[in-house]
Amino acid sequence: MNALYSLLFVFLLVFIPLFGVGLGHLNTIFGVCIPMTAFVIFILGFAYRIFKWGKSPVPFSIPTTGGQQYAYDPETFKQSKWDNPTNGFQTFVRMALEILTFRSLFRNSSASLHEVKGEPVVAYASAKWLWLFALLFHYSFLVIVIRHLRLFLEPIPFFVNGAEFMDGILQIGAPVLYQSDLLIIAGLLFLLFRRLADAKLRYISLVNDYFPLFLIIGIAASGIYMRYYAKVDVIAIKELTMGLATFNFHVPANIDVSFYVHVFLVSVLLAYFPFSKLMHLGGVFLSPTRNMPNDSRIRHHVNPWNDPNIKPHSYEAYEKDFGPMMAEAGLPLDNPENAKGTEEA
Ligand code: HEM
Repeated sequence: MNALYSLLFVFLLVFIPLFGVGLGHLNTIFGVCIPMTAFVIFILGFAYRIFKWGKSPVPFSIPTTGGQQYAYDPETFKQSKWDNPTNGFQTFVRMALEILTFRSLFRNSSASLHEVKGEPVVAYASAKWLWLFALLFHYSFLVIVIRHLRLFLEPIPFFVNGAEFMDGILQIGAPVLYQSDLLIIAGLLFLLFRRLADAKLRYISLVNDYFPLFLIIGIAASGIYMRYYAKVDVIAIKELTMGLATFNFHVPANIDVSFYVHVFLVSVLLAYFPFSKLMHLGGVFLSPTRNMPNDSRIRHHVNPWNDPNIKPHSYEAYEKDFGPMMAEAGLPLDNPENAKGTEEA
């Protein structure tokens, strides 16, 4: 049901610009006002979320680890540097590997229940498909976003031309097929069917899991339709998009309605982004379970905002203070002498 609601919702979203521009001729609203408003919501919302996370207290060293910790006999116990970093450089490499190669997803495993001689047995197996298709989806998305910069920049930077050249290097068809278009759809469909096919995942999947998938499928599909079928007037569109980038708004008349559908869906994505799970884009950098070195046995961590008036109270001192009461209550004492108590106590 959650998947169906999300799909229906995205369908409804497609109809809004179809009617708004196709029938209502509200080109300026859909070409300028809505995208600009969405962009402002995205920037402010994103900044707000980052600011709030940045302000959250992290009083303890809480990195998650997945390998041998640095040991005082490093010859015998070889440290797993990228899974259990102890300094800034190792942590940086760990973060870079995570962000660029999704390293922790590579270790994804699946659990399944089997029956062996009438007994239920849980079996674990390596599951790399999620890693592969997540990587395909994210990199295709990145390449597409980089290529789209040609709509907003003049002159077009070399890396945008380079991405475009590499992406169409197979020279299939006219207009040339971008590999990223195929790969993003493959990635998205896998991520969607993975949720639908696995009963365990289906059970925990919410509208907020399906909606971004359908929305991005809608964005990619409308983009593909524009490029390969409608063959939209990219010169006119660039006039509009350069107007957005320079605040010199201008809406040419001859732009196909599919462009407005594409941009409307992108606007919804931008406005939804800061309030959704998609914020992992910014959050991954601020995750204390990832961005801290695991050095709590090497360095003494002191909570920076400890009240200096509250002095630390060791267990040794505590036992001295409360020894007689503890002895009376039958509690064990490290030092039996404390049962007598000090004069002050
Ligand atoms: C989340 C952001 C976006 C995604 C994922 C996306 C995705 C796509 C995809 C997959 C295509 C198919 C062809 C290609 O890959 O270039 C496309 C084409 C296109 N997109 Fe986007 N798009 C996004 C944002 C935008 C924005 C903000 C605009 C303009 C305001 C835009 C304008 C266009 C145009 C004009 C085309 C047709 C290009 C051509 O014919 O070569 N897109 N988009």
